Amino acid sequence: MANTVLKLITAENTDECLQLKPREDQQRFVAANANSLEKAKKEPTSRPFGIYADDIMVGFALFDVEPYPEDGYFWICRFMIDERYQGKGYGKAGLAAVLQHQKNQTDCTKIRISHVPDNTAANRLYKSFGFAETGEVIGGETVLDLIVAE
Ligand SMILES: CC(C)(COP(=O)(O)OP(=O)(O)OC[C@H]1O[C@@H](n2cnc3c(N)ncnc32)[C@H](O)[C@@H]1OP(=O)(O)O)[C@@H](O)C(=O)NCCC(=O)NCCS
Repeated sequence: MANTVLKLITAENTDECLQLKPREDQQRFVAANANSLEKAKKEPTSRPFGIYADDIMVGFALFDVEPYPEDGYFWICRFMIDERYQGKGYGKAGLAAVLQHQKNQTDCTKIRISHVPDNTAANRLYKSFGFAETGEVIGGETVLDLIVAE
């Protein structure tokens, strides 16, 4: 498998990012990347990243790079792999890179993520990294936490 790395979204790779989309039947699971890039401008603690397989952007993630002010934890706000590149391990490799990036920040004691309740692929992926359901539902989504340090 290609080497998977994160690169910040800048003016140079915005167009490539906007071209990525999930399958049509998955579009209710994640906002369009155009929407996520707009959200990124308003969220002071989160940054948008392309998930790269060597030189090709195969996915996108928007996540906290410092504690989210409202609860002091690190959220992964958006996460997707383009339909052309799914099922090849990039979801797993991309999520591992996101988690490593967050765990490297000071004060990262807990990482939080949420998904549409019937998004079973996302649920399996997140649980395989140690995320556990908290029982909370925020904005209609199932919330999962990964405890980084006690
Ligand atoms: C969820 C998603 C990121 C997975 O990406 P991917 O590149 O296909 O994932 P991988 O190939 O790395 O597979 C990783 C794991 O995801 C889960 N998974 C992926 N596709 C799945 C499917 N069709 N059914 C069940 N589980 C699935 C499995 O746990 C899999 O691990 P396994 O193969 O060891 O069982 C991708 O399907 C996606 O972008 N979906 C649309 C957007 C979305 O739902 N984002 C999450 C919003 S919270």
